[in-house]
Amino acid sequence: MTGLQLLDPSFFDDAGGTDASGAPMEPRELRSAFGCFATGVAVVTAQSASGAKAAVTINSFSSVSLDPPLLLLCMARHSRSLDVMQDARRLAVQFLYADQADLAMQFAKPGEDKFAGVDWTYTPRGVLRLERAIAVLDCDLRQFVPGGDHRIVVAEVADFTVADDEAEPLMFYRGKFFPGTEDA
Ligand SMILES: Cc1cc2nc3c(=O)[nH]c(=O)nc-3n(C[C@H](O)[C@H](O)[C@H](O)COP(=O)(O)O)c2cc1C
Repeated sequence: MTGLQLLDPSFFDDAGGTDASGAPMEPRELRSAFGCFATGVAVVTAQSASGAKAAVTINSFSSVSLDPPLLLLCMARHSRSLDVMQDARRLAVQFLYADQADLAMQFAKPGEDKFAGVDWTYTPRGVLRLERAIAVLDCDLRQFVPGGDHRIVVAEVADFTVADDEAEPLMFYRGKFFPGTEDA
């Protein structure tokens, strides 16, 4: 049996987007294809040593490993939150309730004061988090892996809380939140 070849990380930066006929792939159409995978919606929060707060809505969350407890998310390279995460070395990932679509939109728009009107607090380890969420994963940043126009952020879960209720989650599918009809 031949060994599994590990990809050089630069592969991800260099890979050209072409379809089966060799024509350039249209990113907007590819995004629509990716969007056919229904997901939950998460907000990632972090605070730098100088006090700068970052929060960003994501749906590229995946669990990775139970032992050690690892998760990943994919952040656009130009995301302003990446710098804060890198500086903070810690972050919180929180899953949203069905009635938090407005919050998801607020954290999906670049702006100076993304936290206006938002209730936030800290985890026992001092990591910035939303006051209300279905679950909060309090993490240490472990790795930034190159991933084309994104960075794959690998984090280790140090602590977590899960809400003791049966409220519905916010879902995202084909550019729309469910429940609700707002296009993102
Ligand atoms: C439902 C939804 C999911 C999103 N998922 C991601 C994601 O996984 N990664 C990402 O980089 N941006 C994602 N975005 C876009 C970011 O939220 C948006 O670009 C945000 O303004 C980035 O903020 P920042 O530049 O302050 O970091 C998503 C937006 C929405 C509405």
